[in-house]
Amino acid sequence: MATPLIFDTDPGVDDAQAIAIALAHPEIELLGMTTTYGNVDIDTATTNALLLAELANQRIPVAQGAAAPLIKLKHPAPAHIHGDNGLGNHPLPVPSHRAETISAPQFIVEQVNARPGEVTLVAVGPLGNLATALQLDPGIVDRVKQVVVMGGSIREGGNVTPVAEANIFNDPHAAARVLTAGWPLTLVGLDATHRCVLGPAQMDKIAAAQGKLGDVLAGSYAFYRAFYRTALDIDGCCPHDSCALAWLMRPELFTTARGHLNVVTDGDAEGQTLFAPQERTFIDPRWARTPLVDVCMNADGEAIVDWIVETLTR
Ligand code: RIB
Ligand code: CA
Repeated sequence: MATPLIFDTDPGVDDAQAIAIALAHPEIELLGMTTTYGNVDIDTATTNALLLAELANQRIPVAQGAAAPLIKLKHPAPAHIHGDNGLGNHPLPVPSHRAETISAPQFIVEQVNARPGEVTLVAVGPLGNLATALQLDPGIVDRVKQVVVMGGSIREGGNVTPVAEANIFNDPHAAARVLTAGWPLTLVGLDATHRCVLGPAQMDKIAAAQGKLGDVLAGSYAFYRAFYRTALDIDGCCPHDSCALAWLMRPELFTTARGHLNVVTDGDAEGQTLFAPQERTFIDPRWARTPLVDVCMNADGEAIVDWIVETLTR
């Protein structure tokens, strides 16, 4: 049976690649996309989600969500990484469909409650929508099947500050609620995603197989690749958000550890994810206070990129 899934996203170049996977994978039943600000403003995120589904000739519900962080002030969108339109400034048509009339958090609550124990939430942007869904109905903690979050960093260091990964940094207060809510959760952070580099030859194969959607994936990739070359001296890009789906479908490609997570919400280390492995005892009981979760510590990057290409070219 296919996995019923809600994809919470801020598309975003690497989000677009992951959306293509969610639309294409035969073992994923995409119930809907919920959008958040992050790589782009919220209206652009919603437009992009609608458009990406249409380019794949699919009609998927899209519910618009968070326009800003819960508490902190919003940072400007990273147009130098994802382009002004979130998709590398690739020229885009206007989608013909509109978003749902209910909000992203309401959509999450409704879908989870409609199918108790079945729905997986995959979140690849700042975590305001999941945090608000928890506030609307705390009972979803026991009714969701599992939650997979692309975000954070345990040993790898940060990508927007020396210690913080972008999705967690963008809304650390929301992340603190979501990562410590007590639902079955796996964190797929930079320790895994930085092991993966999707190269230009691999993107060419994807573009050739994905029709109109492929043109947008390739055009936006070209912009994203230029950023990676300048910033990290990598020829290719890290497909961060696709890794969350790779973990779901191919967990054996990742090394995970179980333990307690915390998120720093203020100060110089805001957005840092702190992990205390289950088997270690520390000097202070505070490190065991939060619920147990799984975090990715490493990954077989080559095999994950092969899986992405295979999924998008079959
Ligand atoms: O740090 C990587 C994450 O930040 C990804 O979700 C990417 O889309 C950006 O939002
Ligand atoms: Ca994202």
